[in-house]
Amino acid sequence: MKKFDILALGELNVDLLLNRIGGFPEIGKEIFAQEMTLTLGSSTAIFAANAATLGPKVSFLGMIGRDSFGDVVKSSLRQRKVDISNLIEVDDAATGLTAILNYDNDRANVTYPGAMSRMGVKDIRPEIIREAKHVHISSIFLQETLHRELYEIVKLVKDCGATLSMDVQFDPEETWEFDCAQILPLVDIFMPNEQELMAITRKDSVEEAVAVIRPYANVTVVKMGTRGSLVVTREQEHFLPAMLNKSVVDAIGAGDSYNAGFITGYVQGKDLETCQWLGNLTGAINTTAAGGTGAFSSKEAVCQAAQQYFGQKLVL
Ligand SMILES: Nc1ncnc2c1ncn2[C@@H]1O[C@H](COP(=O)(O)OP(=O)(O)O)[C@@H](O)[C@H]1O
Ligand SMILES: [Mg+2]
Repeated sequence: MKKFDILALGELNVDLLLNRIGGFPEIGKEIFAQEMTLTLGSSTAIFAANAATLGPKVSFLGMIGRDSFGDVVKSSLRQRKVDISNLIEVDDAATGLTAILNYDNDRANVTYPGAMSRMGVKDIRPEIIREAKHVHISSIFLQETLHRELYEIVKLVKDCGATLSMDVQFDPEETWEFDCAQILPLVDIFMPNEQELMAITRKDSVEEAVAVIRPYANVTVVKMGTRGSLVVTREQEHFLPAMLNKSVVDAIGAGDSYNAGFITGYVQGKDLETCQWLGNLTGAINTTAAGGTGAFSSKEAVCQAAQQYFGQKLVL
């Protein structure tokens, strides 16, 4: 028996949301926002929080500054029942922040990566990995040191006996440097969305991209937005259409919630088809409330949403 079912390894930051802004900011001028919210940001945090709600015991290994935004990160994770004893607090870098300026359906983001860009292989103690059954790594392009040392980190995880899932997320620099042949054989469940998969393989279609990774990958889960998802193994492919939500609140974090559902099934020993169904369902549930964690306040709320919006019976 391991202490944790899942160790989420990745980026942590706060989101500063500015809403109802009176026009676009201009250099040398000042404008008002009518609303402001400070919340836990980062895709790995959404994954960890939602997985913890679904049942597994989740711990987080990430780097924050010893500052007040770091306190926001810690209390938000704790509130969502994510273990924070493995967080690394540093004195010489600040907690990362994304300032999000919302204009109706569009937004302008500015991210200061701060401490999260510094975490590398030397910060990851093998004892911590050994306490976890499964490790999930996300947002590899947002974390400079982790990206550079990805092979060493992935190797360490496997040497410590954990299973491993990985979501790449967007590359702000759009260089999409990812060595499929080196990394993928060590990843048990690879979880990009279709754009990310095409970008890292430098192909224009999902079919071509799948052909590139197939010789190296174990299980690949391709998230396809409102179309659903495709699970690819060495032997076969299985497409499952989305449980379409006709009145989407927003799709922020849908992919992270998908990952949380899929990996919850995986660590509970469910077969891949059940994991895929869980992923499609939790991705869809994500879109019924605001933000990445709004629909995941409790197990009861998740099961109720599954029934109410999608007619699915979910037992957690
Ligand atoms: N409008 C929607 N209705 C139902 N399910 C959705 C909707 N949008 C996304 N999903 C589900 O969530 C999953 C992840 O969303 P997607 O947008 O592909 O990921 P990402 O956020 O990583 O880009 C999809 O594969 C799908 O199953
Ligand atoms: Mg995603």
